[in-house]
Amino acid sequence: MSEKHKISVIGVGYVGLCTAVGFATKGYLVVSSDVDPEKVAKIKEGIPPFHEPRLTEMLKAAIQKGKLKCLINQTEAAVLETDVTYIAVGTPSKPDGSIDLQYIEAVSRDIGKALKKSSNYHIVVIKSTVVPGTAQNTVKTILENTSQKKCGEDFGLCVNPEFLRQGSAFEDTFNADRVVIGSFDKKSGDVIEEVYRGFYSPKVPPIIRTGLATAELIKYASNAILATKISFINTIANLCDKIPGADVKLVATAMGLDKRIGPLFLDAGLGYGGSCFPKDVKALIACSKALGYEPRLLESVEEVNHEQPLKAVELCKKLLGGLEGKRIALLGLAFKPNTDDMREARVVPIVCELLREGAIVVAYDPVAVNMAKSLLKDTILYASSVVECLNNADGCIVVTEWDEFRKLTPNDFRKYMKQPVLVDGRRIYDPAEFGKKLKFAAIGLGKGL
Ligand SMILES: NC(=O)c1ccc[n+]([C@@H]2O[C@H](COP(=O)([O-])OP(=O)(O)OC[C@H]3O[C@@H](n4cnc5c(N)ncnc54)[C@H](O)[C@@H]3O)[C@@H](O)[C@H]2O)c1
Repeated sequence: MSEKHKISVIGVGYVGLCTAVGFATKGYLVVSSDVDPEKVAKIKEGIPPFHEPRLTEMLKAAIQKGKLKCLINQTEAAVLETDVTYIAVGTPSKPDGSIDLQYIEAVSRDIGKALKKSSNYHIVVIKSTVVPGTAQNTVKTILENTSQKKCGEDFGLCVNPEFLRQGSAFEDTFNADRVVIGSFDKKSGDVIEEVYRGFYSPKVPPIIRTGLATAELIKYASNAILATKISFINTIANLCDKIPGADVKLVATAMGLDKRIGPLFLDAGLGYGGSCFPKDVKALIACSKALGYEPRLLESVEEVNHEQPLKAVELCKKLLGGLEGKRIALLGLAFKPNTDDMREARVVPIVCELLREGAIVVAYDPVAVNMAKSLLKDTILYASSVVECLNNADGCIVVTEWDEFRKLTPNDFRKYMKQPVLVDGRRIYDPAEFGKKLKFAAIGLGKGL
């Protein structure tokens, strides 16, 4: 095997750190850099700045073996020490939903400065999610202007979108369904393909080679179809709620057995949250409109998702006959299990609506309480266990489907709550069993409440 390339990763947030640790674990020498000094200080001590299964052990091992370095705001140094640079900075939404490229632009300028000093053919790989045209029109232009060098001759440019899921990042990284490499020049695409063939050897996933814009669009189209499946099944769930006896869970199970449909992303509930789906659907809508195409399907996907969390509050209000002065326990804060990420978490609109209705809110999450405190401040009470959360509550809403909550029995709710009123916002309980012993409602259960 040829000698491993040295890799730099700029931005060690969620994707950057998992990418850096993934490469370091596979024996690559990785130099990373981030503008956030607190984050870097933690990483250097082997402490991940966020919760992700397996990350702590792998990060510690990578640092101990000398395979991973993390620098504070030294993009130029990181680039100059390596052959391939991954850009993994954030691409948040602007207030109008369009993509905010300020971090991509800043990092491109820093990389350009390094390229100016470098005499080697260096490859820049965009891992951040960017709308079609960004690599060609923004990154390439800045790199060329700052370095005074030519893309495709003096340096290479690729787009390599990231598909990992928070909560199972390393499982996804080491067992990818596919690798997408969009390249400006064939040479850089060939080198990155070789990197991944080495990384995954002997079980190499399908590698899809494209141009820059196609690779950019593949990422958005992939997230948009998953978001669409979620809003679709939530639409069916809301319809079930109007049809006594109809249960969306059984509808989804039967649909999912059809190979053309598949079972994944057909879980009715409170909608999608997190750092990707909401912002990527919004960015795709904005990009599409800017190009003169009205993406009606995507606009509906977003609209359904926006309204969905309020369905749980509606059900709770109906079961209790009003929420004024009622103590409502929320099980789960994170946008999904196995993470403490609160970005676009569904709990936020739920809390706002409960407070607007005059309820007192108490919440518990196995790992996200600290993150939630910085977002929701003291607008709600925080419990340190399920029991403390349920204690004396008038109603409970399951917001995040953590395994810990799946294990609860109807008696657990009866034992601690003032009134045994439960809304299953994630369809984790058997309605036959829970409905017998509790005042129970669930999204898409067709109770005609
Ligand atoms: N989080 C996910 O699950 C996921 C999955 C696939 C793709 N993505 C995409 O990957 C990108 C990164 O997402 P994330 O969740 O890791 O974001 P993040 O906010 O967790 O991390 C971004 C990091 O970039 C750093 N940064 C910003 N400007 C910088 C600069 N000029 N130089 C160096 N560092 C800088 C920030 O300090 C931060 O640590 C986004 O485009 C996102 O859409 C995210």
